[in-house]
Amino acid sequence: MQTLPWLEHASPADINRAVEALYHVHGLMTALTDLDTLLERISDEGRSVARAEAASVILYDEATDELYFRVALGDSGDQETLKREVRLKPGQGIAGAAARDRVTIHVPDVEQDPRFYRDADTMSQFHTRNILAVPMIERNQLVGVLELVNKMDGGAFSSLDQHVMEMFGAVAASAVVNARLIEEQMETTRLVAIGQAIAGLTHHIKNILTGLNSSVELIEMGLEKGNDSLVANTWPVLRRSTHRISNFVQDLLLYAKPRKPIIEPCQPQRIIVDACETMRDLFNQKHVAVEIDVADDVDALHADPDALYRCLMNLVTNAADAVPDKGGRIAITARRADEQHVEITVADNGPGVPPEMRDHIFEIFFSTKGARGTGLGLACARKVVEEHGGALTLLDADRGACFRMTLPLHKNTS
Ligand SMILES: Nc1ncnc2c1ncn2[C@@H]1O[C@H](COP(=O)(O)OP(=O)(O)OP(=O)(O)O)[C@@H](O)[C@H]1O
Ligand SMILES: [Mg+2]
Repeated sequence: MQTLPWLEHASPADINRAVEALYHVHGLMTALTDLDTLLERISDEGRSVARAEAASVILYDEATDELYFRVALGDSGDQETLKREVRLKPGQGIAGAAARDRVTIHVPDVEQDPRFYRDADTMSQFHTRNILAVPMIERNQLVGVLELVNKMDGGAFSSLDQHVMEMFGAVAASAVVNARLIEEQMETTRLVAIGQAIAGLTHHIKNILTGLNSSVELIEMGLEKGNDSLVANTWPVLRRSTHRISNFVQDLLLYAKPRKPIIEPCQPQRIIVDACETMRDLFNQKHVAVEIDVADDVDALHADPDALYRCLMNLVTNAADAVPDKGGRIAITARRADEQHVEITVADNGPGVPPEMRDHIFEIFFSTKGARGTGLGLACARKVVEEHGGALTLLDADRGACFRMTLPLHKNTS
């Protein structure tokens, strides 16, 4: 059997170590998702299998046509300065030459090589004796250079070291390209999502403003003509529009800002009554019967009253939207779920949530209400409840819909 020329001087122990390291590096590729950690681990494997004092991953930045140190590992020298300060043009230094010519360069004694870039040693206070620089290429594109410095015990890097590093270089190059592709894709998805969100939100605001402007015009007309009943009839419409806009803005802020609840003792009964009071106009208009049942054992809850109020408002508004025009009923209950938790439910006798939608109703911007809804309500309510360490779920119900908030009596705020 013919032996590969680069294996000729390798001992069985060296070959075993190299094979093991290769398996290990391939394993890392699938196990690690963070690019920096992955590149660090690949460099470290390279350093240990080839017995080098230092290892670096030097990446190529196409925008500036420069190479920079993304990873620099070594027990001596100032690796942080290398990462911060050193920029190489392709062709500059040995790593630069490997990048420009896309070939592996092994320099057993850097003092004899005019390409050696001394400034990096000066800046990092390191003494380089020999270098093995492997270009990282993926799909014909230069990604960077994998570099080992100073074979331990004074020798030079072997052909086996060179071949193993070339394989590591290929793995590292493909990891970098994959990470960049994922990043680009995420950015595109994010921009599309932001665009869609803004379009939806603007549409919703425009709808509310149209209602608001028409009411203002009608009220002005009523005032001009001394038509009190026109003013009186239009006033509630205007109030509803201002409510809608203020609810919308509050939900948007609650959802968009990461916030820690401002915890204080509060009475669930008070919050439920306040939310229903705010909705009274709508309840009266739709002839909705509202039942509130707070058990005696529900004491003060440690929670953020304003945030809980918004939550309940969303659940109650949804219930009011869902109930039929005649015979609408909403039942709100609060009771102790166990020693540590309070449970608040909001149930209605509307059509309920179709099974195929159950998984989606808590998603932001999911709404079946067209221009009348933004799909912020439940997403916002769930976020608030979870920020309290609780859970908001839709229960199985034979008729209508029933939402349950479970909240800890005492939230650990640390
Ligand atoms: N009580 C309910 N009965 C039936 N369907 C409901 C109920 N509550 C929510 N849903 C469904 O879940 C969807 C999402 O509700 P959510 O409160 O998040 O948004 P929205 O009410 O449509 O709009 P917004 O609350 O932002 O004005 C609703 O569009 C509706 O289809
Ligand atoms: Mg809603």
